[in-house]
Amino acid sequence: MAATGTLSRVWPLGSRLDESGNLELGGCDARELAREFGTPAYIVAEDDLRARARAFAQALAERHADATVLFATKAFPCTAVLELFAGEGIGADVASGGELHMALAAGISPERIVLHGNAKSAAELEYALRERVGLIALDGFDELESLTRLAGGEQGAQRVLVRVTPDVRGDTHPAISTGQAESKFGFSLASAAEAIVRVQESPTLELVGLHVHIGSQLSELDPFRRATEAIAQLGEFAVYDLGGGLGVAYTSAQQPPTIEQYVDATVAAAHDFLGERIRLLLEPGRALVANSCVTLYGVETVKPGPLTWVAVDGGMSDNLRPMLYGAPYEAEIVGRFGGATPCRVVGKHCESGDVLISDVALDEPRAGDLLVTPATGAYGHALANNYNGIPRPPVIFCKDGDARVVVRRETYDDLGARDVG
Ligand code: LLP
Repeated sequence: MAATGTLSRVWPLGSRLDESGNLELGGCDARELAREFGTPAYIVAEDDLRARARAFAQALAERHADATVLFATKAFPCTAVLELFAGEGIGADVASGGELHMALAAGISPERIVLHGNAKSAAELEYALRERVGLIALDGFDELESLTRLAGGEQGAQRVLVRVTPDVRGDTHPAISTGQAESKFGFSLASAAEAIVRVQESPTLELVGLHVHIGSQLSELDPFRRATEAIAQLGEFAVYDLGGGLGVAYTSAQQPPTIEQYVDATVAAAHDFLGERIRLLLEPGRALVANSCVTLYGVETVKPGPLTWVAVDGGMSDNLRPMLYGAPYEAEIVGRFGGATPCRVVGKHCESGDVLISDVALDEPRAGDLLVTPATGAYGHALANNYNGIPRPPVIFCKDGDARVVVRRETYDDLGARDVG
């Protein structure tokens, strides 16, 4: 790691080390951010979010006229993030009534919202109908029946997509692979044909197209192409939502396709197999937000061990991904990037599995240091929890040297706020 200058693509755009080796994010000094907002804290470079949103939208617009980017809200369910994307003309994929509520509150117009979910409740379907969401992705026959019953009021027929599981497995962790035949999501290729007929017969639903999402953190483009090819056999439709799933670099060693390469391959597959006169929707989550954000932690204690134990003031309450998916992360000591002490970065939770990074070289860490992990914007804040009574961290937006809180830190009182007994 260079002692000065710009950092690798794992870090938010514009991140740099100044002459004294201090880390700057969105023009703000990391140490000052920690002093002002405390640790742990999610620090988002606003320009990074905007640049990725524009890159995605532009790459798509250049290749296909009738196309929309929908942000997968689950990746970073935060009003400020959704508002920023809304301002860039991006819509939302929502997977629950709660996400729908957030997207609407953030100003995303209902016709740019697609509702997903393999077990949508009647209440969620009614909410979506009431708000006139643009599309509902049908996931099963029970839902097809209940939505047929619920739809058709004064809003007229509800436009729907049929979600298809194309029997294509991407190279990713099994917990986040969804395209394989035995997935709990969507209709199999065999049953999709029947679903299509039944929606066409439904008096209150209007079938406009198909949806496919084969998984997340995919580092190869070919499975996306095969999934597109697989659904082409189901007939010709006006709308295709090809899901999300583009992987990102969590470490400098990872080299996922760029946004442009992904969009290029996806649009090419759509043109080859589905035609050029379609409406195309893409639902990136991770690729829009992961690398925009770092987590700042305070080092509480350092102990000798097989690898030096570096215990920070957060852990599995603010980043569950290493525990759920064995996800790799990098870390550095703020002010002393580089270093050669082999370390294991652990959290403060009461479990031995609370390991954020199992093996990372740091510069002789000690209590009181500030530790930073990049690429925590996707499914970090989203999966945060209060295990061990730890209040969840704030989200801080940084831009041009100014920092503002967009999600405040939880308080101890918040922890009991729902307790009524
Ligand atoms: N569309 C649908 C229907 C999805 O289910 C998902 C993600 C996306 C789009 C966005 O996928 P992305 O572009 O973010 O890969 N918690 C896991 C990821 C779960 C993804 C769930 N669905 C993780 O932290 O890796």
